[in-house]
Amino acid sequence: MKLFRNRKIKERTLPEHIAIIMDGNGRWAKKRSLPRSAGHAAGAKTFKTIARYCNKIGLKYLTVYAFSTENWKRPPEEVDGIMNLLRDYLKDAENFKQENIRVKFIGDPAPLADDIKQLMKKDEDGSADATGLKLNIAINYGGRDELVRAVRQIAGEELSPDEITEDEIAHRLYTAGMPDPDFIIRPSGEYRLSNFLLWQSAYAEYWFSDVLWPDFKPRHLEQAIDDYNRRSRRFGGV
Ligand code: FPP
Repeated sequence: MKLFRNRKIKERTLPEHIAIIMDGNGRWAKKRSLPRSAGHAAGAKTFKTIARYCNKIGLKYLTVYAFSTENWKRPPEEVDGIMNLLRDYLKDAENFKQENIRVKFIGDPAPLADDIKQLMKKDEDGSADATGLKLNIAINYGGRDELVRAVRQIAGEELSPDEITEDEIAHRLYTAGMPDPDFIIRPSGEYRLSNFLLWQSAYAEYWFSDVLWPDFKPRHLEQAIDDYNRRSRRFGGV
């Protein structure tokens, strides 16, 4: 069954860049009378499964929203729990390296703990030569914050108004040099972008599902890619 499904996915057009808002961990835990931290732990497992699956099917770019600039408003124990999951993942990064996945973090690392910043750098440097999936993990990422930084840089460089083009802005975003996401997936029955990739999502296709992130399986991704294949992308043309 698995083989058949994989063969089928090769016949489809893959988006070049998929972005995922990993939502619903809290509700997944609540349904099971578990603490929210258990939901995030289950969500972290799903993240690893889906990243590996994306690598296996030959996806070029995957960007996941792991922690937003707004998530600091959560109770400190929940924030600590997510940071510890991130630490665990980073310490385990050797496994990903063997799988040829190149990791990059997008967002502002400044307020993160020093050990996390060091592990992030180690993970990015250690996987820099990988030629498989390019995995972007958004940590302390906010789309508006990213645009403010770009505008500040431009102001600092004293560009004249007519030198400020879409390309000049795009080159100053965390995603500089990458293709925009073609396809943005948000599970858990919410229909928002939540400050994710605001600039980059201008022409993205969206896919929503009621499945909570910890329950999200490769078959849901296959279903999403099937739906993507039925969309007609016109980029403002006819
Ligand atoms: C949103 O669900 C999820 C988050 C804010 C955290 C996402 C974190 C992970 C999946 C694990 C850590 C990631 C890595 C890279 C190891 P929610 O808590 O808002 O869910 P709810 O809407 O049901 O409350």
